Amino acid sequence: MGKEGATRGWNPGLDNFFARIITRCKVLHFSPQTSGHGDRGRSIPFGETRLFFAENLFLLGTSIVPDSMVASPEQNEAPSQLALQMRGISKSFGPTPVLRKVDFDLRSGEIHALMGENGAGKSTLMKIAAGLIDQFDGEIYVAGKQHRMAAPRDATRAGIAMIQQELSLVPELAVDENIFLGQEKVRSLFMVDREQQVRMAREVLRPLDFHGRIDQPIAKLRVGEQQLVEIAKALVAKARILIMDEPTSALSASEVEKLFRIIRDLKAQGLSIIFVTHRLEEVMQICDRYTVLRDGRLVGSGLVADMTKDRFLGILGEKRVNVLKLNLALDQLH
Ligand SMILES: Nc1ncnc2c1ncn2[C@@H]1O[C@H](COP(=O)(O)OP(=O)(O)O)[C@@H](O)[C@H]1O
Ligand SMILES: [Mg+2]
Repeated sequence: MGKEGATRGWNPGLDNFFARIITRCKVLHFSPQTSGHGDRGRSIPFGETRLFFAENLFLLGTSIVPDSMVASPEQNEAPSQLALQMRGISKSFGPTPVLRKVDFDLRSGEIHALMGENGAGKSTLMKIAAGLIDQFDGEIYVAGKQHRMAAPRDATRAGIAMIQQELSLVPELAVDENIFLGQEKVRSLFMVDREQQVRMAREVLRPLDFHGRIDQPIAKLRVGEQQLVEIAKALVAKARILIMDEPTSALSASEVEKLFRIIRDLKAQGLSIIFVTHRLEEVMQICDRYTVLRDGRLVGSGLVADMTKDRFLGILGEKRVNVLKLNLALDQLH
């Protein structure tokens, strides 16, 4: 990926900038105390949103990530190559250890279930992979190359996108504005090319079976549709690794079916997918391999096809399995 010196650039890319400034200020919680220094003339890393002072106005803009800097699919990648490797990941919040030397492997082109009861550390581990938590011990390799995940843009550059359980779209912005947030299509210095964005958003959303209006605010969409927008955003960012944190928890049965169709399609396109869940029946339906965390420790991993009832009970403990209400699905195991 680009050298640090080559990753500097600035293009505010605003159209109706008053409206956008107000919307984004609210969302990003910029305050006059922290924003009044004026970033004008300073170099800004690509993909970062900043408030700056110019022409007696506070402006907010996002520097553009050129296509050449976005992670592109690995060509001729060996099928067994690891898409993502996390080694010895430890994390504490205050005095409490939440992850203890966890290893996690994601193979290229697989759907990998990350399982464990509430509080096991699943979301924390995935947030670390997505650059959302910067203080941790351990190492992260993407396609065999070590990466420092100190911020979300590090993960984006490495081709990793995460759809968090609490979706992180901006409610007031339209579908296309959310999809292209931080990577806006621009017509000129101050003009976002909404027409192009809407057209491209429509193209990427069509195969996802999205029926909502692209120029309407995200807040008006159902959770299932918002999730499709998150997937579209990841695809536009050219993600090769997609992390979905409990994506089915707020979906209806038919929405889950549709999501599974999409996940299988993404796998067919060569994406590697981490599917965080505590629902065993979903793991058996859609996942190739699994990893189980318990109290912040790795307690088991393997092929879903090799998972037996005894092995699974051994990993999680019978009492915990009852807590997870997995008995129904367990009956389907041999
Ligand atoms: N930002 C945080 N500050 C303090 N504790 C946290 C924070 N995030 C998670 N935790 C704690 O870390 C543990 C693991 O949480 P999490 O990774 O969300 O588990 P899971 O996703 O498996 O349910 C929990 O005990 C949770 O309360
Ligand atoms: Mg979680």
